[in-house]
Amino acid sequence: MSVIGIVSMKGGVGKTSATANLAAAMATTLGANRVSVVDLDPQNALHWHFGLQSALTAGVCEQSLRGADWADAMASSEFGVACLPYGNVSEPDREAFELLLETDSQWVGAQVKRAGLGNDAVVLIDTPPGPSVYMRQVFACADLVLIVLLADAGSYATIPAMESWLDEVPDSDFRPPSLYVLNQIDRSEPLNRDVAEQLQRHLGARLAPIGIHRDEAVGEALAFQQPVLVYDPHGQASHDLARLASWVINTLNR
Ligand SMILES: Nc1ncnc2c1ncn2[C@@H]1O[C@H](COP(=O)(O)OP(=O)(O)OP(=O)(O)O)[C@@H](O)[C@H]1O
Ligand SMILES: [Mg+2]
Repeated sequence: MSVIGIVSMKGGVGKTSATANLAAAMATTLGANRVSVVDLDPQNALHWHFGLQSALTAGVCEQSLRGADWADAMASSEFGVACLPYGNVSEPDREAFELLLETDSQWVGAQVKRAGLGNDAVVLIDTPPGPSVYMRQVFACADLVLIVLLADAGSYATIPAMESWLDEVPDSDFRPPSLYVLNQIDRSEPLNRDVAEQLQRHLGARLAPIGIHRDEAVGEALAFQQPVLVYDPHGQASHDLARLASWVINTLNR
């Protein structure tokens, strides 16, 4: 099994969209029933990308508090990706879950294993922005972490904070490889182009070789509750995501 974490220091950079759309792109290559997504963000938005709006309370939070198997709350989608929502939960339940995650640093990895998804499964985990107990859990169980960035000054400014956070991850010998992925690339915008070039120089091999262009179809696809590869299969974002999916699959040796 391979686990991919999707994180960012800054909010709104496209983590949830990237998680959903990359998963759908990977499912296209790997086949149905091999790719799952787990929503570790209390915003509980990931399932919308797969048209699974019925997922309300059941999810990682409630299953964890009940000691129940995560697999029982996993919903199959028509896009070849199974989705485990965070769940729509009360504040006390969210706090209790976060306390559990503080107490057991390996909880998420253990639950993903216990879900029995199979040796050839790929699991993508979405997280809330910034340092959090969720981000720590992902680093403790992932084989690869993708750090999403925009080509803007705001994202650029978060790189030192991200790097010092990484330096402080416990058991740094076992820290999974983490690579930055540029989202919303727009070469027609001078600032976007300049920051992208600066990031390439600054991050070198830490920047994934494939980024995702800005494409209105990403937001439109969510409005139709579909992965962008289904909504607009021949668009720029779909093209980028298909390439990114192949690159991730090769990187994981899948
Ligand atoms: N490549 C893209 N092109 C155009 N719009 C995009 C792209 N990627 C994401 N977006 C848009 O950016 C907004 C934020 O995306 P998303 O919710 O995925 O970010 P996030 O990092 O998960 O946010 P949060 O930090 O709140 O969890 C959404 O409106 C989404 O449609
Ligand atoms: Mg999000």
